[in-house]
Amino acid sequence: MAGIPHDPYEPKTGAEKWLNRRLGIIGLVYDTMVIPTPRNLNWMWIWGIILAFCLGLQIVTGIILAMHYTPHVDLAFASIEHIMRNVNSGYFLRYLHMNGASLFFFAVYLHIFRGLYYGSYKNPREITWIIGILIYLCMMGTAFMGYVLPWGQMSFWGATVITGLFGAIPFIGEAIQTWLLGGPAVDNATLNRFFSLHYLLPFVIAALTIVHIWAFHSTGNNNPTGVDVRRGSKAEAEKDTLPFWPYFVIKDFYALALILVVFFAVTAFMPNYLGHPDNYVEANPLQTPAHIVPEWYFLPFYAILRAFTADVWVVMFAKWITFGIVDAKFFGVIAMFGAIIVWALVPWLDTSRVRSGRYRPMFKWWFYIYCVDFVVLTWAGAMPAEGIYPYIALAGAAYWFAYFLVILPLLGLIEKPQSPPETIEADFKAHYGKPKGSAAATPAE
Ligand code: HEM
Repeated sequence: MAGIPHDPYEPKTGAEKWLNRRLGIIGLVYDTMVIPTPRNLNWMWIWGIILAFCLGLQIVTGIILAMHYTPHVDLAFASIEHIMRNVNSGYFLRYLHMNGASLFFFAVYLHIFRGLYYGSYKNPREITWIIGILIYLCMMGTAFMGYVLPWGQMSFWGATVITGLFGAIPFIGEAIQTWLLGGPAVDNATLNRFFSLHYLLPFVIAALTIVHIWAFHSTGNNNPTGVDVRRGSKAEAEKDTLPFWPYFVIKDFYALALILVVFFAVTAFMPNYLGHPDNYVEANPLQTPAHIVPEWYFLPFYAILRAFTADVWVVMFAKWITFGIVDAKFFGVIAMFGAIIVWALVPWLDTSRVRSGRYRPMFKWWFYIYCVDFVVLTWAGAMPAEGIYPYIALAGAAYWFAYFLVILPLLGLIEKPQSPPETIEADFKAHYGKPKGSAAATPAE
């Protein structure tokens, strides 16, 4: 698909001309900055920039932390205490990194749910979406391995439980687990490789982010109407768009400033609110904590993992038809990864010809229930796996799969969508235009 027509880069000064003839880097930056962007983007389009900020923050704070951290089982915990007590502003750097991970996941979930509501994954943005899922998987891996580094009780036992899941794979599971750990149990080899990969993966995420941005620059951004920018001529495209710089840069930075106020308040005044006190106790392989709970951002998937116990009929059925190969543990692992795989497949599972959820009266309600489902699973994941909680997690997991595998494909066939506006310009005018006879702009929604 051809890009949206806009003014080409013209080098002005002698130095610019000199450089441009040898390396088209200013032109590249120029194209990125002035890219025509749908003028009706709402506040849900800020999360991409917040994510880019988080990635930068994590890399910068992480590199400085790594200068003082020691990846050895006898020294890791003490080196974190050293950072907290002796290194200049070390405690603040660590708290920025810890809470930065939470902001990163908070932003990525809103970014993903924005995409799910406005159909941003649909033709022609499938590659943007799939790269996004790869980024998310790398984020999960990075966060999981990072949490092991302080070598506290939750670090050790979290690593033991999660790497133990690989042991559930029939026949080859144990070999994979040993290979991942670098030995029969979580130990020094594990800590070392986790540190190495935790340092590496953010750069993989950075590379994937460049491809992600490249992909949506090739297709153009989606927008709340899901209607495409007109591309017949530059004049027509300009009616639907505004240049990214300065309009969206200022909007995004305004949003970032507001979010940073909250972020710094949490980091400075309640830095351990989202953490677990057990991680301030050094890892002890001989003492299992009462409840092993992952960080909040893994809880929905942790709930799905634990939901499928041996007495659930689908698990019993799977066990029966596979002659016992698929047991409850393995089923839980498949369900947990399956929950992300259905995200990846959503461009092909959603059959609706209307892109944006704004014009889909039935879809909206199922989507709102899905949002509640996500919150309920997060809560259920934090609860002990006893009493009513596993049933709630099971209901939540069932809705997750039903939403993607049954509801979305069927809705596209049975729902009667409303008509989206003809153009982005029309939508923009309807929301922010001046009605006849009035001096003030009146937002309609
Ligand atoms: C490091 C993580 C990420 C960064 C830095 C990032 C960055 C961005 C930016 C800057 C945008 C354009 C503006 C905006 O929509 O806010 C964008 C759009 C998009 N992102 Fe991401 N993203 C990340 C992760 C993800 C993930 C995990 C997904 C989904 C699985 C995703 C899916 C999308 C989609 C579908 C769009 C297109 C929306 C549109 O066309 O406007 N992104 N991303």
